[in-house]
Amino acid sequence: MKEQIFTKLKINSITLKNRFVVSPMCQYSSRNGNPIKWHYNHLLNLANSGAGLLMIEATAVSKKGKITHSDMSLTNLENFKNLKKLTNFLKKNSDIKIGLQISHSGRKGSAELPWVKPNTSLKNRSWKTHSASSIKKEFNWPYPKEMTLVDIENIKSSFLKASKYSKKLKLDCLELHMAHGYLLHQFFSPISNKRIDAYGGSRQNRSRFLIEIAKIVRANWPKSRILGARITGKDWIKGGLTIKDSIYLTKKLQKIGFDYVCVSSGGLVSKTDFKPKPNFNYDLAKAIKKNCKINVRVGGMIEDINFAKKIVNKNEVDLISNARKYIYEPNFILKELSNLDPKNKIVPNQYRRCYKI
Ligand SMILES: Cc1cc2nc3c(=O)[nH]c(=O)nc-3n(C[C@H](O)[C@H](O)[C@H](O)COP(=O)(O)O)c2cc1C
Repeated sequence: MKEQIFTKLKINSITLKNRFVVSPMCQYSSRNGNPIKWHYNHLLNLANSGAGLLMIEATAVSKKGKITHSDMSLTNLENFKNLKKLTNFLKKNSDIKIGLQISHSGRKGSAELPWVKPNTSLKNRSWKTHSASSIKKEFNWPYPKEMTLVDIENIKSSFLKASKYSKKLKLDCLELHMAHGYLLHQFFSPISNKRIDAYGGSRQNRSRFLIEIAKIVRANWPKSRILGARITGKDWIKGGLTIKDSIYLTKKLQKIGFDYVCVSSGGLVSKTDFKPKPNFNYDLAKAIKKNCKINVRVGGMIEDINFAKKIVNKNEVDLISNARKYIYEPNFILKELSNLDPKNKIVPNQYRRCYKI
């Protein structure tokens, strides 16, 4: 049987050479929001992994939208020029398609670098964070400011501005971060959104901010390229988002003209019912694929490549997203491909001897 995972996927005018996607991975190493040398090395290694699409890390749409002071951002011309240099370098040295994830941290912002103190808010150089409601992330975090309607409009404009810069970067794919407990997720989840205006209460109201952003970004992003969103399949908390909410949101995004959703989950607060286990988002992704007509990407401890092959062959999902696997076993795709198809053109000539092909 031909492994579907190694087949091309054409979305609009962009053709991915296979179904493997490198998940976005924040490096918390930018200076003034700009990539540094580390990013060149790190991303080129990932670009040459054999995957079809490389998602560049969550990139803040505004200064307050960063998680830490060292996040990448796309808020001004300087950020644009520096990202342009980086993406030109990647395109020159790899045929991988390149995407960027844009995000606003909301109440998860103003955080320490994770390797300094994980899950801790800044003591010095902190900033007042924004959220749907003034509800702390957890007990040792500060209260965010409940966003006014003016704040809402400003953040919508920031997403639009970042998407305009992304368009000029000639990226193949743009992804809105609606998951992992960041601002858009904070609006959607009833755990973090207790607003009593048009942006809170019912599912329709809680999704309003996400939908408004999705619409303005869609209107600006070229139809020929790929547009998607990372969404949360569920909150893993009683009273939180469930798969029904994710299907509702996906259908809305589909109607607006999004090309895919990447199904992830969790991240709103630390204490949940979640127990890490292989393929933990698979059931959620499968349910979304079954109920919606949109490309579905799934990530989350998909460690076994045979499992990944199986779920793509069965058309249960379209794309497989991995993060840590590319760090632990950077060439797992090349190895697999050499076994399956020794004549493949993806393994670099310089490495063919390593795989006896
Ligand atoms: C170092 C690191 C940085 C991450 N940064 C992001 C990010 O920028 N955006 C995002 O959506 N997820 C981020 N994640 C989550 C991953 O994209 C992925 O969803 C998660 O690690 C589960 O997949 P895995 O088991 O294949 O690693 C990050 C994960 C890691 C390990």
